[in-house]
This record gives sequence, structure tokens and C-alpha cells, in this order.
Amino acid sequence: MLVGRQDEVQRLADLVGAARRGNGGVLVLRGEPGIGKSALLDHVRQAASGFTVIEASGSEFESELPFAALHQLCVPVRADLPDALRVAFGLATGTPQLFQVGLATLGLLGQAAKDRPVLCLVDDAHWLDDASAKALTFLARRIASEPIAMVFAARYGLEELPSLVLDGLPDADARTLLRATLDEQVRDRIVAEARGTPLALLELPKAGGFAPPDTSTITSRIERSFPSQAGQPVRRGPALAHPRERGPDRRPEPAVGRGQSAGRRGSGWWRRGSLRPGRVRHARAVLPSAGQIRRLPSR
Ligand SMILES: Nc1ncnc2c1ncn2[C@@H]1O[C@H](COP(=O)(O)OP(=O)(O)OP(=O)(O)O)[C@@H](O)[C@H]1O
Ligand SMILES: [Mg+2]
Repeated sequence: MLVGRQDEVQRLADLVGAARRGNGGVLVLRGEPGIGKSALLDHVRQAASGFTVIEASGSEFESELPFAALHQLCVPVRADLPDALRVAFGLATGTPQLFQVGLATLGLLGQAAKDRPVLCLVDDAHWLDDASAKALTFLARRIASEPIAMVFAARYGLEELPSLVLDGLPDADARTLLRATLDEQVRDRIVAEARGTPLALLELPKAGGFAPPDTSTITSRIERSFPSQAGQPVRRGPALAHPRERGPDRRPEPAVGRGQSAGRRGSGWWRRGSLRPGRVRHARAVLPSAGQIRRLPSR
């Protein structure tokens, strides 16, 4: 889903609306890598209902092949190409004439536009082969009275055509996009890993990210998150201690390992920290014993 970009969306809607009325036009979306040029092309593709959409994209690997991008655009429009284009694409012998190629492309798209308006999208136009760039620029300058809209996305180049420079998203839109990203990616993973356990659903997002697969169990991450939420150093064991390891008051006690003195029992992190014993008990109620937890699969 496209976030923000209201001005750009409006400008594209105006372009498409004018083409629908027979007043063709062109716009180059310009900006640095990742700024959202292709995202806007996706948007206009979906927004242009009733249009015949034809597409091409520049490619680093084809930038030395004359008319490679134009070939992408024209071949799907009609199988029986005019001679000038057949020559340009190496389907007939002869030397391609740029002017003839431009006119033939205009004729091809103009014919297609008699049925339905045409939207021509060219992504990564900075990598267009030179011959295609010239032919498409020729075309773009001659569609003013055709129901044809052309939108290019380019990091650079095509300076002679009208353009719209994309800046970074404003902070509010950036936050919205981040939330949307968390929804799609992190939430799905949290749901998958939590396996429906409400405590896990509530605590995993606070557990400070995901461990690499197979190295850490869900429960151990939740377990670790409790002391860190209490602002205390991490010590394994307390929240998940076996009932036999609890103190006489039935409150959860830190696990005492072999060789540890009983005197350390009274200095558990849960006594000093802000984490309440009740909360720790809740963790124990949901999670099985430490022994069982360690036998759980890590995914
Ligand atoms: N306004 C937006 N709302 C939501 N997602 C966006 C928006 N703009 C960009 N994105 C996402 O950000 C990523 C990068 O955007 P995009 O691919 O459009 O960049 P670009 O300008 O085409 O970069 P490049 O020059 O490398 O092709 C994509 O995943 C795209 O879907
Ligand atoms: Mg792109």
C-alpha cells in the first residue's frame, strides 16, 4: 500500500485523466534509488482503470543493445509490426532510421489508443539503451492530442521531458510506513513463533528482536526479557524455576544451582527490581517447567 505521496498521486491522476480525455502527456518521476519511483508506477498502473497498459524497463545488461527497451514496449501491442520497427528489432534487413522508428511507434500506439486509452510505463529509464531513449522521447513529444499517457521512472537522464522530483517521505508518513512494515513482517513472525500463547504474543515484541533460528527458544527469549524489563542484569532461571525451588512463601525464588549458597536466595533480581512476583507467577502459569521448556523445539 502506498503511504503518503498525495501531491505526486494527484499529479499522476491529472495526467491519466487528461489522457482519458484525449490530451496525452508525459511525466518523468525522478529521484535517488529507493525513494519510491517504482512504487508510484505501481500505483498509477492500478489507478488507470480502462487503460491499455504497456510497459518496459531499462536494464543495465541491455543498455548497449539498440531498441531493446522499445522492443519490450511494442511487441505486445501488435504482432504485425510496421517495417521500420521490424528493421529496428532485427526482424527484417536494413538500417534502422530513428525518425522512421519514432513515427512507426507513434502510429502503433495511436492505433491501439483508438480502442482504449494507453498508459505507457517505463521503469529504470536511466538504463534505457540510447536508441530507445531517443525514440521514446520523440514519442513523448507527439502525444499531446492522443489518449496516451507516458510515465517514466529514472534516477537520472531524460532531462528534456517534464519531471517530478521525489524527496524523502515526511516524518509522519515515514512512521506510518514503519508501522505498516512491522505489521506485515514482524507481526507475522511473532504470531508464528508465539503459537497462540498470549504471554508470548505480548512479550516477544519487547524481547529485543529475534534470535537466529534454532539457537534460542521462544520461552528462553521471554524468560530473558523479564529481567531486562525490570532493569536488572539477566540471570537465567527465576521466572521458570521449578515449584520445589520456590521459597516457603510460595513466591518465585531464583533458581539455586549446585554449589551456590542458600544465602543468595534472598538476593534474587525479582526482589530488587520493579518486576512484581505476581507477574513472574503469571509467566510460570503459562510456561511449563524449566526442564520442559528446554525440551521444546526452538521454532
Ligand atoms: N510511498 C510509499 N509507500 C509505501 N512503500 C513505499 C513507498 N515508497 C517506496 N516504498 C517501498 O520502498 C521500496 C523502495 O521503493 P522503490 O522500489 O519504488 O524505489 P525506487 O525509487 O524505484 O528505487 P530504484 O531507483 O532503486 O528503482 C519498495 O519496497 C517500495 O514498495
Ligand atoms: Mg525502481
